[in-house]
This record gives sequence, structure tokens and C-alpha cells, in this order.
Amino acid sequence: MAIVTVNNPPVNAINKNVRCGLLEAMDVALAGKAKSMVITGRGKAFVAGADAKEFDAPPQEPHLNDVLSRLASLPIPTICAINGVALGGGLEIALACRYRVASPSASLGLPEVTLGIVPGAGGTQRLPRAVGLTKAIELVGFGKAIRASEALAIGLIHAVADDPVAFAKAVDLTVLSEIEPLDLMPTPTSDTATVQHAVEQVVRKSAGQIAPKKAVDLVLLAGSCEISEGLAKERATFLELRGSEQARAFRHVFFAERAAVSRGSNFPSPERELRTALVVGGGNMGAAIAYALASSGLSVTILETDNGASARANENADRILEQGRSRGLLTDGEAQALKARISHRVRHEKLEVVDIAIEAAFEDMAVKKAIFASLIAILPDTTILATNTSYLDVNELASEIPNPGRFVGLHFFSPAHIMKLLEIVRGDHTSPETLGVAYALAKALRKVPVLSGVCDGFIGNRILARYRQAADILLLEGATPYQIDEAMRAFGMAMGPYEAQDMSGLDIAYANRKRQNLRKRTDVRYVPIADRLVENHKRLGRKSEAGWYDYEGGKPAQSPTVIALLERASHEARVERRAFRLCDIQERTMIAMIAEAASILEEGIAERSEDIDLVLMHGYGFPRWRGGLLHYADTIGSKKLLARMEELSAQDPISWPIPDIIGRLASSNSSFSGISETIV
Ligand code: 3HC
Repeated sequence: MAIVTVNNPPVNAINKNVRCGLLEAMDVALAGKAKSMVITGRGKAFVAGADAKEFDAPPQEPHLNDVLSRLASLPIPTICAINGVALGGGLEIALACRYRVASPSASLGLPEVTLGIVPGAGGTQRLPRAVGLTKAIELVGFGKAIRASEALAIGLIHAVADDPVAFAKAVDLTVLSEIEPLDLMPTPTSDTATVQHAVEQVVRKSAGQIAPKKAVDLVLLAGSCEISEGLAKERATFLELRGSEQARAFRHVFFAERAAVSRGSNFPSPERELRTALVVGGGNMGAAIAYALASSGLSVTILETDNGASARANENADRILEQGRSRGLLTDGEAQALKARISHRVRHEKLEVVDIAIEAAFEDMAVKKAIFASLIAILPDTTILATNTSYLDVNELASEIPNPGRFVGLHFFSPAHIMKLLEIVRGDHTSPETLGVAYALAKALRKVPVLSGVCDGFIGNRILARYRQAADILLLEGATPYQIDEAMRAFGMAMGPYEAQDMSGLDIAYANRKRQNLRKRTDVRYVPIADRLVENHKRLGRKSEAGWYDYEGGKPAQSPTVIALLERASHEARVERRAFRLCDIQERTMIAMIAEAASILEEGIAERSEDIDLVLMHGYGFPRWRGGLLHYADTIGSKKLLARMEELSAQDPISWPIPDIIGRLASSNSSFSGISETIV
């Protein structure tokens, strides 16, 4: 028996060396007259797929599809001993083997569509032969991995074993030789309606993306043509998509996410693991933060002002727990254990020492200052103190804290237990050690951490404010909120800006505009429509059943009141309303956001363009397949961007100041992602 071990740390990704190694291993096994061959991986992973770093260069021989065709037709039985993740090309290796056994902790999947491509080494043709068309469409179309137990249940693997290699060694060769290779098996017949439903689900959930539909079409081929034909078409589609704009965008995000986590190593790691946290304020945000912390194994205390508020905090936390349980994300036992890690206190009770205290109270400077004043009186002056603020000046809050090096902003996004983004706001005094703790916390919470400097709204909300401002100007000039929402959804945003405001409540943005004194400022063009909705019409969004939309029976409908308000505002501003195409709306709002993002980069609030991409994607519903805001800007090109900004600025100089950095990028024909410190 030949035992072949793939060894390419950290995750055994398949690069040219691995492909050559596999070919050589087959030669050695046959030359040595091995009667069977086992393939496994060294370390925690089996094989995490093709090495995505190779995708930016032309494909290099030997190609994985050829290597696996050879493996699939080897004259000796082959066993894949899946010791950990088997993803993409990793699962395709397994599918080219005759027998598959996996460890209980292994996860298996074909996530290629999440990289904007289709499986390129037999996945779309061999998987349906193993599990049928419907399951294969779901696995390939959504790209989600499944656990070993599910893989066993659907027939993707033959066995689950704690030690897959030991198990493989003991498999009876006569049993093995009776198992047909997938290449010789027909695809099991499936119910047409079920298959059609699975296809529709994939198409519906992947709007805007190219790869999922193509991947599903390839799977369908497995039901209707010879494997050789299916494999050839799969290869051609893989090559076509590999260098596509969407695939580049997905890869950019994949590596940006990992780089964001790795950046934590620039700061000292905490001396010990975080175990305890205090969350001040148990409203929706505080309770969700507490839940997220408890899910990561921390013991959390929620501090409230009185017994009534404490009871409400308890209800808020329970509601989130119940949602987790009803959605099948938590078993009863897990929910109980999690609840046991959350305790409640009211202010006058004595507090235990904690590793970190996170304030999640009302967004008001005086309220937050009072909270920190009481915390510093109770907690040792070494406890890390964090404020969960969306806009407020972290430096001003830190100014009254003894030992302000321990003070940091942690901007969670609502719902905090679900949203992946965590803006870590570094104040003037925040110490590297405190940032190390913030990154460690982000890791424990499995969040995407992005470091931000201090400014109004930090990275994300500052860009959001500019986005809304650009949209409001479009309202004044003739667009409707309904057209703008439609345009932005068509662009790929999870929601349009007006339906999003209705969801979160118009009073929040209203309070924020008041705080910024927008009405009196001369450096921004004031559009009164949103303020009038709140002040004159008490339209606060979904919660008052009227906002930018009317809500009859909860269903949004265009509002004649809002249209009348728009027309009046345009008339007062002496603006002749005109029609905008969806693409004009998309261009304007995107250019506004890009301009703000460029200023943020120029001021050093964000350190890298990809940080801005991650913020927009993980906090504000920017489409992943476009690679984030500044990756998208790079696809437009700096020269074109500058030219459009100049046109807009000529018509409306107040709304369109052009950041210097855009000019510098355009004159050197550079991109945001290629930005060097000298350009900044
Ligand atoms: N290519 C290149 N590098 C990869 C990689 C891949 N497919 N998968 C992981 N890595 C790298 C990461 O960039 C990271 O590098 P870093 O340490 O320099 O930042 C390192 O491996 C560890 O990865 P993670 O930080 O993500 O580690 P985790 O333990 O959290 O997750 C994982 C491991 C689940 C394997 C996750 O990395 C993952 O999902 N990887 C991508 C899997 C994938 O999409 N495979 C399909 C590839 S395309 C393909 O196979 C085409 C084929 O059909 C021909």
C-alpha cells in the first residue's frame, strides 16, 4: 500500500509542487507495484484547494484536472483519508479516489463560487455522480462546506473514522475493488421539479454574480452527457472565469480579510487569554455584544442603571438566545451554557475585576463620560476600557481617563452578534498593548477587524454620511427615494439608502445631523427633506409605519407625502427637477463614496485601501463580488474618476471637493490598491 501525504503548510493548498508531487507519487506507487494507494494531508487540513495565489498568473503544467484524471483512472484502488478540511481542489482529489473516509471534524465543500470561479478539476462532474443533482447544485452553487456526518449521510464519503489513515489501511481490498470509480458511474436520476427549485434558489441568492449560475449549468451537464464532455466544458469555464473581474474581486477580498486578521500581529499579544468582560448598557446593542462575547467563551456581566433596565437587558439577551435556538444555531444545552455565562448587575453592586469593559450606552458624549467616570472609580487603572461609539470623539472621551493608553474605540455593527465588522478606533493615546487586546478580542469573536483613526463617523459612517448626502442631492435634483433604492440594489448593495434608513429609524440620522449642525454649515449643501420628514410629519421609518415609504400592513409603498415634499424642496431651492437613469444614480453615489474614502485614506484615518473595502462590505452591504469600494474604484481607473469628479465639481463645487490624492493617482496613472506611502 502506498501512502501519499500532501505536505504544504499551512493548509496544503495545491500549487505546482503539489501537483507534480501527486503525479510522482502515482509513478512511484505503480513502479513499486503497490496494490492500493492512500492519500492524506499533513497537519490540521487535508487540502484547502488550489493555491489561489497562482490564479493571477497563467496556468502552469501539470494542470490539476489532468493530474486528477490520471488519479481517477489509476489501475489500483485509491482511498482518500480526509484528515481535515477538503475544499475545492482538495475535495476534487477525494472525488477522484475510489473510496473516501473522513475524520469527524473534517469539513468538505466546493467553495469555488466564493472565489468567483467554478470547480476546475472534476468537481461539477464527479460530485453529482456521488450525491445526485440536487445536492450537488446546492453544494456547488452556494459553495458552503458541510461536516463529515452530513457528507456521510448524502453519500459523498463512505465512512467517518477518528483516524482516517488507520481506517484506510484496514479497508478490505476486495470490498474496495467492488466500488466503481465515479468516472464510470452514471449520475443518479433526480426529480426534475426538485432540481429546478435548487437551481432557482442558487440564481436568486447570487444576483449579480457570474460563477454560481455557470457552476450549476455544469452540474446539470453531468445528468445529460458523458463525463469526458462535462470535464472539458468544466475546464473551459474554469479558465474563462479564473482571470475575470469578479474572480479578481473575490480573491482581493479573500486575501484582504486574512491580512486584516494578521495585522493583529503588529501589536503585542495579550499576556493571557481574555476571559471576562463587562458590558455597560444592555439595550439591543449591549445585549448583542454580550451574547457575542459569551458565544466566544467569555464570562460577561451586563451593567445597568436600575433593576428595571437590568430586567430589560436580560430580556434582550434572552431574545437573541431564543433566536439562535429557533434557527437551529444553538442546541438547548449550548443555549443554557451560554446564558450561564451572562450575568447582570445594577450600578450600586460591587463589580468584579474584568479583562475588558465595553461601554455600549446611548450615543451621547455626556452619558458616556459619566459612565467612564463611574467605571474608573470602581475598576483598577489597568482594566482595558472600550467605547462602542459610532461617531463620537474617542480622544475627548479618553481625556478624562487616567492611564488613557488603555482606552480604545470598538465600533460594533448592529446586530453585533451577526455582523462581521469591528472597527477598532485608535485614539491618540491608545497603547499598542491595548490594540493587541482589541485584535485578540476580534479574533475570539471571529470578526473582521479594521483599524481606524479618530474622525466623525470613523471609516464606515463617514462614508455612509457622504453616500446619504449624495443621494439627498439627487432627491433635490429630481430622483425619488424609490429610484435611488432600486438603483443601489441593482448595483448589488444589500439595501438602498432610504429603505435602510426606514429600517434603522429616521430619528437616528436626524439626531446625528443636528449634532453636526448641518443646517448652518456652509461647507455642505443642506437638503431639508429628511429633517422635515421627522420634524413636520413624525415619519420615523418602519417603527412609526411611515418614513421614506408608506407601510400598509407592513408592506413598503411609495409615499405621495414624500413625493410632495421632494417637489416642494426642489421648488424652494430653485432646482428644476429632471429624470435620472439608474446608472447615473449609481455613478453619482459611488463617486461620492469613493471621494470620501480617498480623503479618509489621505488623512491616514484608514491605513490601506483594502481596509475601506472590508468596512463597506462587512458593515454596509457593499457587494462582495465587486471587491469593495476602492477595488471597484480601481476598475473605473483614477483618470476617469478624476475627470468625472471635475465635471461634478464644476456644477456643484461645495458638494464635490476633489481630494488631492485622486489627482496624484491620476497623474501617475496609479490605483488605490497599488498605493504607496509616497503617494499618500
Ligand atoms: N490558496 C492560497 N492560500 C490559501 C488558501 C488557498 N486556497 N486557503 C487558505 N490559504 C492561506 C490563507 O491566505 C492564510 O494565509 P496567511 O496565513 O498568509 O494569511 C492561510 O492559508 C491560513 O488560512 P486561514 O487564515 O483562512 O485559516 P483558517 O484556519 O481560518 O481557515 C480554510 C482555513 C478553511 C482552509 C480557509 O483558509 C479557506 O476557506 N480557504 C479557501 C478554500 C477555498 O476557497 N478553496 C478553493 C480554492 S479554488 C480551487 O480549489 C479550484 C479548483 O477547483 C481547481
